[in-house]
Amino acid sequence: MAATYVNVNGVLTDAAHATISVFDHGFLFGEGVYEVCRTYNGEPFLFDRHMQRMRASAAMIALDVPCSDDEFLRRAKETMAAAGLGRQPDGSVRDAYVRILLTRGIGELTYDPAATPVPSVVVIVKPNVQVPASQHANGVPIMFVDIVRNHPQSVSPLIKSNNLLNNALGMQQALKRGGVEGVFRNYRGEISECAQSNLFIVSGGVVRTPGLEAGLLAGITRAFVLEIAAELGYRTEEAVLRDADLFGADEAFLTSTTKEIVPVVRVDDRPVGTGRPGPITQALLAEYRRKAEAMTAAPHAPA
Ligand code: PDD
Repeated sequence: MAATYVNVNGVLTDAAHATISVFDHGFLFGEGVYEVCRTYNGEPFLFDRHMQRMRASAAMIALDVPCSDDEFLRRAKETMAAAGLGRQPDGSVRDAYVRILLTRGIGELTYDPAATPVPSVVVIVKPNVQVPASQHANGVPIMFVDIVRNHPQSVSPLIKSNNLLNNALGMQQALKRGGVEGVFRNYRGEISECAQSNLFIVSGGVVRTPGLEAGLLAGITRAFVLEIAAELGYRTEEAVLRDADLFGADEAFLTSTTKEIVPVVRVDDRPVGTGRPGPITQALLAEYRRKAEAMTAAPHAPA
């Protein structure tokens, strides 16, 4: 049976026995970074890109990364095996959600990094739970929230930080109002991203998303979608987007590792486009899945 397993600083246990010190600065101060990736065909998808972003996040908070990419992958696969996930001996596949966390480590109650010479590394693996198929088929409602996305010069949204208070507060406001995601504006009032995903619109056949300078996470799925959109022959554009652009869009969609591409059919109380998932969104989702399957079908399979 598949289960949740965790590797804490090299120690592999089931979920109930996974523990970390209350003096870990990840817990005390939210000082740390993380990645979420998932498997297709039992193989981590775009793992190299996730590792690259984790190293970039860590560098932005001057945090040493104590493992090589190969070691992170080894721990992820070992934890998957313990959890009964991945490719099974009988050839069947149980896909995994893999969350890798890196924190400042354990030490005295001070912000001085000298107190925490050894970073903590945690790998959480659980069965991948797809978003309900109805969300991909019928689209979802999202809500503007009045919480402003972190200013890039405070806690930059480019850091995939364990400190997720800004995200949690935004998402909770959206959930309360019946949205599956909350749309943040930045301090200039432009659209930045959602609480747990990036946001795209399609207008006049052009696939558009806010640029990184709007203050948002450089989503791995966002970059991959921009690439496949271009390959499929759509014009793509990173642009300043405002409320009216979203309300007036022909199509809109969310991207994230766990959601893949989810059509947005309502914003606040208004339909987007026809109020049904749009054709370009659907074409991008089909191509995304085709590539994810192809790239994980066998080691080093071409896309
Ligand atoms: N979140 N923006 C934010 C704020 C996010 O938290 C995420 C992903 C994304 C999409 O990034 P990517 O395509 O690299 O998954 C954008 C992950 C899935 C999470 O925290 O669960």
